[in-house]
Amino acid sequence: EKGGYDHFMLKEIYEQPNAIVDTYRGRMLVDKGIIRMAGVDDNIEKFTNAKRIIIVACGTSWHAGLVAEYIFEDIARIPVEVEYASEFRYRNPIINKNDVVIAISQSGETADTMAAIKLAKEKGAFVFGVCNVVGSSISRETHAGAYTHAGPEIGVASTKAFTTQITVLSLIALKLAKAKGEINNADFHYHLQELDLIPGKIKKALEANDHIKEVAKKYMNAANFLYLGRGFNFPVALEGALKLKEISYIHAEGYPAAEMKHGPIALIDEKMPVVVIATKKGHYEKVVSNIQEIKSREGRIIGIVTEGDEDVRSMANYVIEVPDTIEAFTPLLTTIPLQLLSYHIAVMLNKNVDQPRNLAKSVTVE
Ligand code: M6R
Repeated sequence: EKGGYDHFMLKEIYEQPNAIVDTYRGRMLVDKGIIRMAGVDDNIEKFTNAKRIIIVACGTSWHAGLVAEYIFEDIARIPVEVEYASEFRYRNPIINKNDVVIAISQSGETADTMAAIKLAKEKGAFVFGVCNVVGSSISRETHAGAYTHAGPEIGVASTKAFTTQITVLSLIALKLAKAKGEINNADFHYHLQELDLIPGKIKKALEANDHIKEVAKKYMNAANFLYLGRGFNFPVALEGALKLKEISYIHAEGYPAAEMKHGPIALIDEKMPVVVIATKKGHYEKVVSNIQEIKSREGRIIGIVTEGDEDVRSMANYVIEVPDTIEAFTPLLTTIPLQLLSYHIAVMLNKNVDQPRNLAKSVTVE
């Protein structure tokens, strides 16, 4: 049942190229330049009239929501707020007419997310679900939705659910951008073509597995890890840190790279591995100068870089390459090495990768 893999987590990491194809199959028609999603099409005015989108979720799904915030704002120019469902539900949140709430949940059973949905509905919001498990409670409680179609995710650490959630949310953002006239046809087409290339590029990123094992071996005994990223890749830094924490029990923190100087830089010494997402996009130069600051304090640098990168390679202890893509889709690639890194460290430390202590696959209590 693990398909020849040692753990479900590894199997699910390797399933991502196919899972993403399953997510966009029948929805994204690249040649025709169309995205069809019944749940969105049937409610298109609610989305295009939305003054704001509020995303509610927990854990990794919340991180997918943060990536979506960058994508929606960049491509569709709709303001987005991303809330922990557990905070939202107890805060007497302000929900205005025309707000659209998107709830993201792999299991579709998370108690806090469910409560947030009920509250949003009571306040009159239109609630859209992004779930993986078909027929789950959340998929039934929401007004409309889109499944991720990632297939069953058994490992407690979420992997393919995350990348397929980002895929669904990217499709929605592109669809809304088109409907609102925020993107021209050529650019829209270009995005579809690039998204279509992502599964192949993930396969390429997975080829770094043996090299990532070496990195894991080198740093498996560290007591702490720092993960840094900016822009679209800031949430990926948070996700990388969560993956490491939950399966290896090593303390890890994710930070926006530029926030380092406001505190966490004090932690850096020769014992601190710092994973820096530094793809050749957006804030590359700024991230490179953050890397210099880490290096001058003797921090150990693991750079997640675009293929062919030279600058980070000259400074880092290790670099792990991912293929190039448009900035909005880089999280789909940069996440891959972080999943593998945490997986190998947990295996080397003899931890129970698929069933980490104290954790359950679906958190049905608050
Ligand atoms: O099923 P959900 O997506 O609602 O679950 C949310 C979180 O409990 C979940 O993502 C959790 O953080 C994972 N263990 C992360 O790997």
